[in-house]
Amino acid sequence: MTLTCPRITTRDNGPTLSRIAAGMWRMTEWNMPVQERVAFIEQCLDMGVTTFDHADIYGDYGVEAVFGDALRVQPSLRGRIELVSKCGIKLISSKRPQHGIQHYDTSAAHIIASAEESLRQLGTDYLDLLLIHRPDPLMDFDEVAEAFSRLQQGGKVRHVGVSNFTRHQFECLNRRIALATNQVEFSPMVTTPMFDQTFDGLQDLGIAPMAWSPLGGGRLFSADDAQAANVRAVIQEIADRLQQPFLSVLFAWIMMLPSRPIPLTGTGRIAGIRDAVQGTAVELARDDWFRILRAARGHEVA
Ligand SMILES: NC(=O)c1ccc[n+]([C@@H]2O[C@H](COP(=O)([O-])OP(=O)(O)OC[C@H]3O[C@@H](n4cnc5c(N)ncnc54)[C@H](OP(=O)(O)O)[C@@H]3O)[C@@H](O)[C@H]2O)c1
Repeated sequence: MTLTCPRITTRDNGPTLSRIAAGMWRMTEWNMPVQERVAFIEQCLDMGVTTFDHADIYGDYGVEAVFGDALRVQPSLRGRIELVSKCGIKLISSKRPQHGIQHYDTSAAHIIASAEESLRQLGTDYLDLLLIHRPDPLMDFDEVAEAFSRLQQGGKVRHVGVSNFTRHQFECLNRRIALATNQVEFSPMVTTPMFDQTFDGLQDLGIAPMAWSPLGGGRLFSADDAQAANVRAVIQEIADRLQQPFLSVLFAWIMMLPSRPIPLTGTGRIAGIRDAVQGTAVELARDDWFRILRAARGHEVA
């Protein structure tokens, strides 16, 4: 079956992204020579997966350059993709010897310097979307909004957003500058955003979240605890009955939420991304959706 991934606009006047976005966190672990990276991106594009998720820190500050090398080899790719990146975490790294402790930095100076460095590494002159990676206790909402605004006015960043923010933190910053998304962890292994107002608040504002680690970072397959085993068995039963791949059912479960989460894949295997895309065409019955929730939480709804 050849299926093209649908597209989604995250909010009024927000970015239009592919309904499934490809996460690049693990790209340096895939050990792909540059031509394979080009082929990987092209195969994603053939399926309609055009959005690639990065952060300055991924791969010990290495993924953006590795991805950027593919764009340097095949420059025509840039106009066909959306690049998302993040800033605000400072890791201990031999690449950043000035960092004495792992910490957050959401000062305007760091946000702007980090975005400009992401542009250099990726070999592009704009990011489609820049996110603050984690909420920072020292974050000054006015200062972050001002830095975002300067990047937008300079044409370096088209849209801005956040990641791992609470509903309240999101709304504080969103009152100052239009945020395109809140990228949060969500899967049957981690269902918190459904119950802590994160998704409800975004639905109310008409803003689509992005969902990271949809397989719990692989724990859905590798963990041998009861929760993972139950979720696996229930999804497999539904997948067999619907004659759909396991992953398509899982991604459909995430996308069925009315806040319209955009799942991020984590795999370097094209087959895994294809199954995720196929999930955009799977409709789960309400009772099947709740079967997966029951397995995820280990109890019935009240
Ligand atoms: N904003 C944030 O704070 C944040 C945090 C973490 C991640 N992210 C983003 O979210 C993206 C996705 O996160 P993720 O990589 O954790 O996604 P994930 O889909 O939950 O986990 C991917 C991992 O699961 C493994 N996996 C997939 N299918 C498997 C199977 N059948 N059996 C065993 N293992 C399997 C993958 O290995 P294979 O490659 O072998 O398939 C990969 O190592 C990241 O790339 C990044 O862009 C954002």
